[in-house]
Amino acid sequence: MSDEFQYDVLIIGSGASGLGLALQLPDTFRIAVLSKASLTSGSTYQAQGGVAAVLDDTDSTQAHIQDTITAGANLSRKDAVKFTVEHGKESIDWLIQQGVPFTQEGNEYHLTKEGGHSHRRIIHSADATGQAIQQTLIERAKACSNIDLFEDRIAVDLITRHKLNLPDNRCIGAYVLNHNTGHVDVFKAGSTVLATGGVSKAYLYTSNPDGASGDGIAMAWRAGCRVGNLEFNQFHPTCLYHPQAKSFLISEAVRGEGGKLRLPDGSRFMDKFDERGELAPRDIVARAIDHEMKRLGCDCVFLDISHKPAEFIKQHFPTIYERCLKYGIDITREAIPVVPAAHYTCGGIMTNQHGMSDVEGLYAIGETSFTGLHGANRLASNSLLECIVYASSAARHITSHNHPLGELPEIPAWDESQVTNSDEDVIIAHNWDELRRFMWDYVGIVRTNKRLQRAKHRVDLLQQEISEYYSNYKVSRDLLELRNLAVVADLIIRSAMQRQESRGLHYTLDYPKSGAEARDTILTPVNYDWR
Ligand code: FAD
Ligand code: SIN
Repeated sequence: MSDEFQYDVLIIGSGASGLGLALQLPDTFRIAVLSKASLTSGSTYQAQGGVAAVLDDTDSTQAHIQDTITAGANLSRKDAVKFTVEHGKESIDWLIQQGVPFTQEGNEYHLTKEGGHSHRRIIHSADATGQAIQQTLIERAKACSNIDLFEDRIAVDLITRHKLNLPDNRCIGAYVLNHNTGHVDVFKAGSTVLATGGVSKAYLYTSNPDGASGDGIAMAWRAGCRVGNLEFNQFHPTCLYHPQAKSFLISEAVRGEGGKLRLPDGSRFMDKFDERGELAPRDIVARAIDHEMKRLGCDCVFLDISHKPAEFIKQHFPTIYERCLKYGIDITREAIPVVPAAHYTCGGIMTNQHGMSDVEGLYAIGETSFTGLHGANRLASNSLLECIVYASSAARHITSHNHPLGELPEIPAWDESQVTNSDEDVIIAHNWDELRRFMWDYVGIVRTNKRLQRAKHRVDLLQQEISEYYSNYKVSRDLLELRNLAVVADLIIRSAMQRQESRGLHYTLDYPKSGAEARDTILTPVNYDWR
């Protein structure tokens, strides 16, 4: 039996942005927070390096603003950068108030450094900052009687008034699959918030958890929202290269604290590519590694911090030390084999400074959104900052603009009368694999027109097949994720085709130089005019 739930605010996503928002809304609001798996299954829990903010007297907001714009290859929206950086300190203060145990040295918080930052400004909890933030926010949310936390609930699609044949397109909730019962329930809400994370799972190799399938971006697109700058997929330069290590990141803070990149013969190479060496922005370091791996035909390069005292390494990087040791690599004595992997989605659902999307009543915050902060390449540790800053601004806006539940129309139950159980789940697994491979091969670190055309051809065929499958069979988590991945992969390819220049993370051999003017790539859905 399907259920109907009613909440003042429905938040889809339980990471830093989703829980950050839930905890900043008034306690008079009834709030639902959904996670498609466990509450810790998003990227937030995996974050290592920390959160960037101006916290030291020798640093300045101007310097953080400039570093963000430089890393973003001059594409960032200046108002978004200023807004985010200027709200940095209060966001960190809020996290500290919630109880996040940031690492201290004496009476001060320890600040580390990462690529592209001109100052030490990354506050962190050793090398497991995301875990500390996630656990703290979950504990706080569990203590709030007005917040209901739901695990294993997969939002299928947003419900808008237009879909119910009503005159405007306000969002009034979502259809949500309960993974345990197999039923699709209705969640009706005054405001709906997408806090669903990124889409790095579109690539074969990624630092991201399994659920990073771009569900929020695909749902928003289907509901009539514009998306921006989806061609900028950030590849983190250093993921552990080991047959048994799935998606394990070696934090940029390792380079920030003196780690050196080496070729298999032990020689260093980053200085050939950028005067900032290992601490150049990520796009430059990932491209340099990709270039050297292709030139030498080697499977990986090496990141070496073994010249630092063993105690220092174990104290600053306990998680990385333990995980590498598990695979037989003692990082206090030897270099770590590393490769680049898809890490972060810089573009997303277009929003304004309150997190509002194009569809009334629908907000998007965190990695799923496109605020204009990251431009063509995100500066390290600016993501968690953006999650908290926009969680606060969305909370303020929703508090004063929430739609009364009593005024929402009746919503029909999910219709399953035309579909049957699938007997061919192997097709889903095969298509997942195919999509992630061609995205890696054709829409990866180095692109060409021809590769993008090949990818477009394949994604078109896949979309046809998936659409047929979706019409005939009952929905499952795998099918929903595949459907969303294919939608967003298509948007990534179309955005990349539109950008006829190289800038930041979008590098194409056909247009190796940046154009004179930095412009966003905005895609508009056919149903945009339903507003
Ligand atoms: P997430 O934390 O990814 O959460 C997404 C949530 O949405 C999950 O709860 C998921 O279950 C839910 N969800 C998704 N789709 C659905 C659906 N259809 N239905 C229901 N629920 C759904 N950034 C930094 O600033 N500093 C760092 O040090 C850092 N380190 C990183 C290390 C790693 C290994 C990774 C992967 C990322 C790192 N990042 C870092 C990036 C940063 O962690 C993420 O961008 C950020 O945590 C995203 O938070 P979020 O709230 O937007 O989404
Ligand atoms: C890292 O620790 O290298 C990740 C930082 C980030 O993605 O911002």
